[in-house]
Order: sequence, then structure tokens, then C-alpha cells
Amino acid sequence: MMDLLHITSLRRGADGDPKSPNAANYDETKANPYPHLPDPLVLENGSKVTNAETWWKQRRPEIVELFDREIYGRVPANTPKVRWEVLSTTKEKNGDIPIITKKLKGHLDHSLYPPVNVDIDLSVTTPANATAPVPLMIELALSPEVVAALTKRFPALFASASGPGWQQQVLAKGWGYATYIPTSVQPDNGEGLARGVIGLVNQGQPRKLDDWGALRAWAWGASRVLDYLETDKSVDAKHVGIEGHSRYGKASLLAMAYDQRFAIGYISSSGEAGAKLFRRNFGEQIGNIAGSGEYHWMAGNFLKYDGPLTEKDLPVDANELIALCAPRPVFIGAGATQGDGWVDGKGMFLAEVGAGPVYKLLGKKDLGTTEFPPIETALIDGELGFRQHSGGHTPAPNWPTFLKFADRYMSSAPAGPKR
Ligand code: GCU
Repeated sequence: MMDLLHITSLRRGADGDPKSPNAANYDETKANPYPHLPDPLVLENGSKVTNAETWWKQRRPEIVELFDREIYGRVPANTPKVRWEVLSTTKEKNGDIPIITKKLKGHLDHSLYPPVNVDIDLSVTTPANATAPVPLMIELALSPEVVAALTKRFPALFASASGPGWQQQVLAKGWGYATYIPTSVQPDNGEGLARGVIGLVNQGQPRKLDDWGALRAWAWGASRVLDYLETDKSVDAKHVGIEGHSRYGKASLLAMAYDQRFAIGYISSSGEAGAKLFRRNFGEQIGNIAGSGEYHWMAGNFLKYDGPLTEKDLPVDANELIALCAPRPVFIGAGATQGDGWVDGKGMFLAEVGAGPVYKLLGKKDLGTTEFPPIETALIDGELGFRQHSGGHTPAPNWPTFLKFADRYMSSAPAGPKR
């Protein structure tokens, strides 16, 4: 990739170790070297976007093209068809609530390149006593093997928190939930680019500079999950939301931005290359994402902004990624700066502020403030929601707030909220 870009070195990222000479910056006075953001409401020809039609017909496609070409990469035209197979249907209980859980596999047609086999892992749960199709939340989740390995290494991380888990909270509203395993679509490492859906479509060959990376592939997989849900009579596919944390927060934001069928998103601790402004110098930096452990998330073209170009040369920033979700509701969450500072809660808040004008142009409410709120303050009166919980790098403490926000939008009643 670097040869193709004619670059010979990359700037290294921020270091998590505070004693490192290259330690991540956590000083707010140094956090905004490039305060000027690209304007989602100015066309490339310099004229202002003043009506919804110009947004939909001209400006939004311009922004999509820039994210495709420079940041996350393009989904190829010939992505394989997916054939869904229900492996099992089980009646069980979650807490006191009777549920029906289907385990599924989405088999990708690999006739184009038989050596690579891809099957999407999905499980879908709905309340057994539902009398009508139910709204549903999809979580992008770690595979059970990864969870088991992490639990061994960091027992505290996965120790069950007190109170009902998110699935039980969702069931208590009468909604269903689904668990989608993104790594079943695309492995989470650079060598895996020769496999997964990216390797299948490229027939095992290296990517072109604007080919998709893992984040875009994971979001593509989420859209295939939604295709399946549209055929499942127990689900109200017009009220399907998406949730993901950390790298899967990034992927779920992409899914929301690119696929307008998703009704709502809970984007947790997505940080750099997610909802956080690239132009912020706080916590994780572009050099981490362009580095050997994460570059496969992105398009090859993205690497050039990590040297010789810099963040200020990016033609887009996260405010515009969030704006692509408009007018649909998005809730952006993070943990405390002490504990989840790497993801830069304030950088995500500022990006949301920057997406506000697009929501307003489309007749919706923005965050309602430009002042970074005190920790644990929920901003959930408009279509853009935000809250920093006081825990660490986890989505759990913000679920009740997200569900309060989501209540207004997820009702299946025919006379539901106007969109
Ligand atoms: C690393 C990475 C983040 C990512 C996180 C995760 O910390 O730097 O960008 O969000 O892993 O997915 O847990």
C-alpha cells in the first residue's frame, strides 16, 4: 500500500503508556490543533446547501464519495449473494421472559473464488409471547471464542454487572435482539484481507487503494443481517436499530451512515475512525489506526494522511460521517475521561455538534448545546443523543439512557413518530 501511495514512512500513533515520550495527549489545551472542520453544508463548488433537496441530491453523495475513496474504501459492485439458513430454533427463557432464539448462518456465494468460504454468524431472539412483529436491536459482538479468551485474561472486564443485561432491558420493552459476529464476515487482522468477504471478492489478491477495509465490510455484513430480518415475520424490520462498542462502534456508525434502513444507532466508545474528530489531538491518533494492528480497518488511501499529509488535509471528518445518518436518531456514548479517555468523549461530542446543522436542515433537532456537558448528563431531547457514563471502556452503563432515547422512535404502532 505504501509503495502504491509513494510514501516511505508513517507517523507513529499515540502511546497508551503515560511515561512514553510519545504518550497520548490528555491535555485539553493542546487538543484542538485544527479547530476548523470541513463543512457538511458547503458543496465542493463552494456554494452553500440551503435546502434538503440539495443535501440529498448533491452534498450527501459528495461526502459519501470522499469517505468511500479516502477513508473506509468502496464496497465492490460484485459482492456475493447471501443465502440464510436457520440452523436451530429454540424456546427458552431469558430471566422470566419466554423467548424464541434462532441460530442462523448466512452463506456467501463463493463461486467467484471457491478457496475462500464465508458464513455470517447470527442469532435472533424475539419474545415468545409477542402478538405482532417486534422492534429489534442488533449488536455487533465479539465471537464467543474471543470473549472466552478475554475473560481468562481480564476477568473483571466481563464480570456480569449487577442488574439486567442489555438483552433483558430490551426484552422488557417487548423488543427482540440479535447478535451478529462481524469477524465471521471479515477477520480482524491484516493478513485476513486475503480471506473473508474482502479476500473472496478480490480472489485472494491485494486490495486497490480505494478498496474496502474491514470496518466497511463489517458494516456491509450488518446490512445483510437486515436483509434477513426483512424476511423474518417475527421482526418489524422498519424498527431495527444497531449497537456496537469500540471497533464495532465504528462499524455500527458506518452501517447507520451507509444503510438508511437502520432506524436508530447506539454508537458506544467508537473513538478514532468512529465518531471522534480526526482533527482532535486527544487519546488515540491517526497513526494508531494506520499502524500494523489496525490499518486493515481502513482503505489504503487513508494511510497517506498519516504522513506526509496530516489530519487537516482530510477532505472529511467525523462530523460528516454522523451527518450521513441524518435525519435518523443516533446516540453516541462513552465512558469517563478517566478510564475511557482513549476514545475522546469530547471529540465525539464536538463531531456531533458539527453534524447538527444537517439534522436541522432536515427539520430535526440537534444536540441542543455546544457546551460539553458534565459527566452523566444525558442529552436526549433531539435526534442526536450523547452521554458520558462514569465507568470505563464499556457500553453497559449507557444502555438505560439509550433505551429512553430510543423509546420515541422504536414504537411499531402505525401512527408512530413522524420521520
Ligand atoms: C484499540 C483501538 C481502538 C479500538 C479498540 C477496541 O484500543 O486503538 O481504536 O476501538 O481497540 O476495539 O477495543
